[in-house]
Amino acid sequence: MRPRLDTPRLIVRDYTAADLDDVAEILADPEVFWWVKEPFTRERARLWLDEEIAQVAGDGSGRRAVVLRQSSKVIGGAGLVWRDLDTGREIELGYHLHRDYWGQGFATEAGAACLERARTLGLKRVVSLIYVHNPRSEAVARRLGMTPQGELVWAGLPHRRWAIELGGGRRGGPAGLFGLARGAVESRVRGYRPTVSSERGV
Ligand SMILES: CC(C)(COP(=O)(O)OP(=O)(O)OC[C@H]1O[C@@H](n2cnc3c(N)ncnc32)[C@H](O)[C@@H]1OP(=O)(O)O)[C@@H](O)C(=O)NCCC(=O)NCCS
Repeated sequence: MRPRLDTPRLIVRDYTAADLDDVAEILADPEVFWWVKEPFTRERARLWLDEEIAQVAGDGSGRRAVVLRQSSKVIGGAGLVWRDLDTGREIELGYHLHRDYWGQGFATEAGAACLERARTLGLKRVVSLIYVHNPRSEAVARRLGMTPQGELVWAGLPHRRWAIELGGGRRGGPAGLFGLARGAVESRVRGYRPTVSSERGV
C-alpha cells in the first residue's frame, strides 16, 4: 500500500475492490476510455480494477483512485506507471476523470500530487504519452510543467511524449521501486525508521 496523497480538494489513494461502483460509472462513459472500442461493462470494469490492484502488488506502480474530499466519491484515476519505451524504462503519469468533473482543475491537481510524489522518491523524470488529438490531456501536461519531446507510436496510435525533468538521480528499473527513497535514507541517518508503506512503490 502506497501512502495516500492529500491535496486541497482531493485524496489520491490506492484502489480497493470497494471502488467498483464508482469506477464502473466512470468507465461506462465511452468518452473517458475513448481508446477502448467495446462498451465498458460492469464486469469489464471489475477486471480492470482487479488488474490495477494486482499491478501495484507486482511492480509497485499503477494508477490510483482520485477521490473528491467533499463527498468521498471516486471521480477518476491518476498515477505513475512504469513503461518500457524506446528511451528505456520510464515512469509515466496518466490521468482520467469522470466526465461530470472535467473543467474544474481536478486532473491537474491530482497530477501535481503524483509529480510531487515522484520528486520525493528522487525520480529523475516523468513522461506522459498523449495521443496527438487529445488537447485536454495536453493542456493538463502543459499546466503541470511538462514539455513535448517528440512523437512515438503507442498502442498503435500516434502519441506525443511529454516530459518533465525532476532532477532526481533515479531512472528506470524495479530496483528503484523497492529501494529506499532518498528522503527515507536521510531519515534513517537521523535515526528515524519510516514504515515500509511510505517507502515502497510509486
Ligand atoms: C484528460 C482529462 C483528465 C482532462 O480533464 P480536464 O477537466 O480538462 O483537466 P483539469 O481537471 O485539469 O481541468 C482543467 C480545466 O479546469 C479549469 N480550472 C478550473 N479550476 C482550476 C484549477 N483550480 N486548476 C486548474 N484548472 C482549473 C481550467 O481552466 C481548465 O478549463 P478549460 O477546460 O476550460 O481549459 C479529461 O479530459 C479526461 O478524462 N479525458 C479522457 C481520458 C484521457 O484522455 N486521459 C488522458 C490519456 S493521455
